[in-house]
Amino acid sequence: MRIGFLQLRPKFGAVKQNVRKAVSLLSRVSDAVIVLPELFNTGYLFRNADELASLAEKVPGGYTTSEMKKVAKCNNLHIIFGIAQKAKKKYFNSAAYVSPKGKVSVYQKVHLFDREKLFFTRGKSLKIISIGEAKFGIFICFDWSFPEVARVLMLQGAQVLCHPSNLILPYGQDAMKMRCIENGVFAITANRIGTERRGTMSLTFTGGSQIVDPRGEVLVSAGDRSESLKVVEIDIERANDKNITSNNNIVEDRVPVLYSCIARKKIR
Ligand code: ACM
Repeated sequence: MRIGFLQLRPKFGAVKQNVRKAVSLLSRVSDAVIVLPELFNTGYLFRNADELASLAEKVPGGYTTSEMKKVAKCNNLHIIFGIAQKAKKKYFNSAAYVSPKGKVSVYQKVHLFDREKLFFTRGKSLKIISIGEAKFGIFICFDWSFPEVARVLMLQGAQVLCHPSNLILPYGQDAMKMRCIENGVFAITANRIGTERRGTMSLTFTGGSQIVDPRGEVLVSAGDRSESLKVVEIDIERANDKNITSNNNIVEDRVPVLYSCIARKKIR
């Protein structure tokens, strides 16, 4: 199975330009699962709710999803991309999935980061998609900070974690290596690059998109300066082997009776 990432430098608000660039780069690759960054079509730093409302799109039905469906069909691609989703009167920081056959599904970010909380509604469920026999768990950027998410996705069968991102903190990529080791899965982190300046606000994104294997080894990565499309061949069966030694298995050795406070909101 071929999996990859497209690292991009979106221009805030220039949806058509950002989507055209992504489609043109995606046209160079075929027969693969490709992950794009969080909010790749709009940019990240919304100044207010009106700005978000003017740029958010329906999924399916909006311009970005339609363009992604076209390139997915032409090039036999499964594409997972970050998008500001308009759903009734709510707005979600979402990751949409489109298949070559035109199937669409959506994950809505559960753990909103910083000012995202001002405009976006928090998602209420986790997401796994099936591509043939393979299972892909989707989460977005700051969701990495909650190891429970990757754990639950793995326990529900995910073999690959798809991680559209706009990483700002310096350790997200390293943490993803740990998510892979502790769950015995692959992960595709598709980050963005560039600095976004909006009024008095400014953020620099860290690039470093990567594909990590179930032992925490980086199979392929990008720097923090340029847009980059990278694809690798993986043996997805490796994610089914949860043995760490001949006497240790990361699923079977768990002792869930000791972990019940994980599922409670209050810790005392
Ligand atoms: C982030 O969740 N975009 C840092």
